[in-house]
Amino acid sequence: MKGLPGFRDFYPEPIPTTDSWSLDLRQYIFETWRRTAERYGFREYDGPPIEELELYTQKSGEEIVGQLYNFEDKGDRKVSLRPEMTPTLARMAASHTRNYKKPIKWFSIPQLFRYERQQKGRLREHFQLNADIIGEEDVSADAELISLLIDTLRNLKLTEEDFFIRLSSRQAWQDFFEKNGGKENDAYDFYQVIDKLERTDQKASNEKLNKIGFSYEQVNEFISQGQPTEELSSIIENIEARGLGNFIKIDYRIIRGLAYYTGPVYEAFDKSGKFRAIAGGGRYDHLVKLISKGKTNLPALGFGMGDVVLTELLKDRNLIPKIQHIISAYVQITDETMRYTSLGLIQRLRQAGIATEYPLINTKPEKQFKRAVELSAKWIIAIESDNKVTIKNLRTREEQVCLVEDVTDFLELNN
Ligand code: HAM
Repeated sequence: MKGLPGFRDFYPEPIPTTDSWSLDLRQYIFETWRRTAERYGFREYDGPPIEELELYTQKSGEEIVGQLYNFEDKGDRKVSLRPEMTPTLARMAASHTRNYKKPIKWFSIPQLFRYERQQKGRLREHFQLNADIIGEEDVSADAELISLLIDTLRNLKLTEEDFFIRLSSRQAWQDFFEKNGGKENDAYDFYQVIDKLERTDQKASNEKLNKIGFSYEQVNEFISQGQPTEELSSIIENIEARGLGNFIKIDYRIIRGLAYYTGPVYEAFDKSGKFRAIAGGGRYDHLVKLISKGKTNLPALGFGMGDVVLTELLKDRNLIPKIQHIISAYVQITDETMRYTSLGLIQRLRQAGIATEYPLINTKPEKQFKRAVELSAKWIIAIESDNKVTIKNLRTREEQVCLVEDVTDFLELNN
């Protein structure tokens, strides 16, 4: 039987085929995400993988609602697997807002589910680093998040040759829309056309824009001028002060598909233009209020970075680290009468935090040695007679004899 389309199996290295997904690589990405977010003072949170359907139908936007993995549970509740983390975060923040000093800086690494048409960079499940700030109106928070995004990618060894951030503003588009006579009811459709501008042919976009009183030319002129708003200029200045200015560019073609964004928005792209967005985010100042049904009103902002496009990009740039599963010690059992004494030693080594392997069943000594080498064990250990042990360092080939009770100390000292 095969897995479902769009769902991945993650294998430990060495992966069976070049197309297989590596759990070791996933761990490397997660650890880098976690380490970078913690350096920026973000705390980790998590939420449930299933939520009430209504949480997503309120404000995520038609596109994501059409992609929901929703069903009725055995208690007749309308529920959905989470397609994104932001509504859960807004719900969590709203329900315990007094407990935390503002601004709240939180991150999470959820697995998300979207019933999408499968294509390059798009699957039916993916993992996302989500980093968000709740309770800060100032654009310094937007700049802090964009800098975290940049540094996360830099810590994965990507450089300014590889990626950049396209910065835009929903507010700037809203002002453009209103100034040019747009009607409130058409605002969402207008955003949708702008969001798809790069992927839709000019004529089709123009037709859609005409219906709501705009033209392709008019929109294109606004994009080409690319005048940063005051807000965007402050964000850029803040990011330049950190020496990260080269990573950012004003680009009004970005507007973001999700319905809840209100202010500055941005997406990270590879410079070659070969891949879909690596990450995207922005300000969503009204979502907490909406989800708490008016009880809590907190400004909020954040971004999500997916693991699928990121892995494709790291592979493309040859930035996958050499991943090897390393065992510290291999305890050889050449004489089966020594098995129980050996198990005692193995237990002590593992308790001391030393990764230790041994043959589960009676195995030829040469095979055991081969296995130790395959596992890249540093030490090969064999109990000779009741109390004597030989320890061989497989890197230097040096050999040592000591008493069984001294092995743990010796390895802790020399590891
Ligand atoms: P999003 O743009 O929908 O934003 O997703 C963020 C990133 O997740 C995308 O740039 C992409 O790399 C990855 N991604 C999304 N869908 C898929 C998929 N089907 N397969 C593979 N990768 C995917 C959000 O989800 C917002 N909630 C982010 C956010 C957090 N905004 C504020 N805080």
